[in-house]
Amino acid sequence: MESSVKVVPLERVSGPLLAVAIGQLDTKLPSSLLGLDVAADGALSRLLTQRDFTGARDQTAIVYPKRGAERVVLVGLGPDAQITRGEIRRAAAIAGRKAADLGARRLAFHVAHETHGGVPPDVIGQVAVEGAWQGAWRFKQLKAVENAKDPLQDVELITTREERGDVARGARIGHAVAVGQKLARNLQMLPSNVCTPAYLADIARQLGRAYRFKVTVLTPSQLEKEGLRALLGVARGSPEEPRFIVIEHKGAGKSAPLCLVGKGVTFDTGGISIKPAEKMEEMKYDMSGAAAVLGTFETLGQLKPSVNVVGLIPATENMPSGTAVKPGDVIRSHLGKTIEVVNTDAEGRLILADALSYARRFNPAAVVDAATLTGAVVIALGHHAVGLLGNDDPLLEEVRRAGDRAGERCWPLPLWDEYREQIRSDVADVKNTGGRPAGTITAAWFLREFVHGFPWAHLDIAGTAYLDSDRPDCAKGPTGLGVRLFAELILGRARG
Ligand code: BES
Ligand code: MN
Ligand code: ZN
Repeated sequence: MESSVKVVPLERVSGPLLAVAIGQLDTKLPSSLLGLDVAADGALSRLLTQRDFTGARDQTAIVYPKRGAERVVLVGLGPDAQITRGEIRRAAAIAGRKAADLGARRLAFHVAHETHGGVPPDVIGQVAVEGAWQGAWRFKQLKAVENAKDPLQDVELITTREERGDVARGARIGHAVAVGQKLARNLQMLPSNVCTPAYLADIARQLGRAYRFKVTVLTPSQLEKEGLRALLGVARGSPEEPRFIVIEHKGAGKSAPLCLVGKGVTFDTGGISIKPAEKMEEMKYDMSGAAAVLGTFETLGQLKPSVNVVGLIPATENMPSGTAVKPGDVIRSHLGKTIEVVNTDAEGRLILADALSYARRFNPAAVVDAATLTGAVVIALGHHAVGLLGNDDPLLEEVRRAGDRAGERCWPLPLWDEYREQIRSDVADVKNTGGRPAGTITAAWFLREFVHGFPWAHLDIAGTAYLDSDRPDCAKGPTGLGVRLFAELILGRARG
């Protein structure tokens, strides 16, 4: 996986595939593409005059020039006024998918500078690299019979001499983000018999070795000593041991860290409150929050921004068995509050409760958690937005903006006091479900009970962590969502 920036006329680009993103046009080819048009014997201008290609969003056309790249793919960016960083990322992703479909090992990508919607060159560099790798991602690790196409190995951004420095600066960030997102998606895709809590801990240790992060992994006896009984309670039903993973990036001396918490349920059967068989296999994705945190640390390792960041991952399976926690059981959390477990399938909030409570010891500047927490967020927002809740308006706004820049959009839901009623328990301090109404909000209210003394934002990513059908810019399956948002959040803080 390499990303680079090149200054070369388009008609002189070599390799299997050159993709050029163009905004919506009348019938005239932008003058920056005239040389390429000549190399293609006028095929590009004919595409436009025939209106076979107009530059409409997501539109593609392929030509085979006599000189230069073996193939040129045009990708539409839509009307100029609507071209944003997100649209450029999307076009690059469409190009990346094309490269992967063709089995091209190299992809050259260029945005026609007549139609870049005023997006600055460094941002183009970043989102083009992010998009290209997002689109090209394929998962072949577990195929024994290898008949698939060659994977993409190189992304080259083609730019001008004047913009080269800025584009390269952005591309370096984009590459780091893409590497992190790829790690997250690969981890998500791995089934639960491979990706166990101990496996996630090993990945954290590997990141620690590669990038000199401090990594601490708590095993069951240490969890017992520390009193993370909510995590232990969920883990009790499984022979697979739980882990609590702490990974630390030191980039800013003694300043208060940003804490990122990721739900790491490596498989969620529901426990004794067992889920129906249909689509239960998707519950291997219940560690997507953890994957986002680990992916973000890969990005951090590459960029080493001047911010302190602590990653916290409670990792466990949620299984039914003779030793599993049962509906009605009461457990004592790390914070000391007692929890009535009325539904063992609301396990994510139990393990996050302990993680949020544990976060206090870092005196965090802010804590942001990502979790595939509720089916209800899919009902509320579908697959197009992350549910965003928390206790601090400026932090929520900061997270929302980071999500916008990242193309991982968040949408707020209210945490009004009235909803707190639904999780009142007759026997314990709090119960772990609030019934069907406002399921995403009552889940967040439960988490809030364990948030003490720091600004906190919660991302419910159950609707966005994986896709069940292809999109033009992203294959179905895991999205690695969270890595880009976390990276934007951290880089935003590093810029101050
Ligand atoms: N991991 C699930 C949430 C989920 C649902 C993720 C669909 C991805 C897709 C979570 O642990 C869960 O089971 N939540 C329950 C909570 C309920 C029992 C209060 C749910 O949403 O049904
Ligand atoms: Mn569950
Ligand atoms: Zn779950």
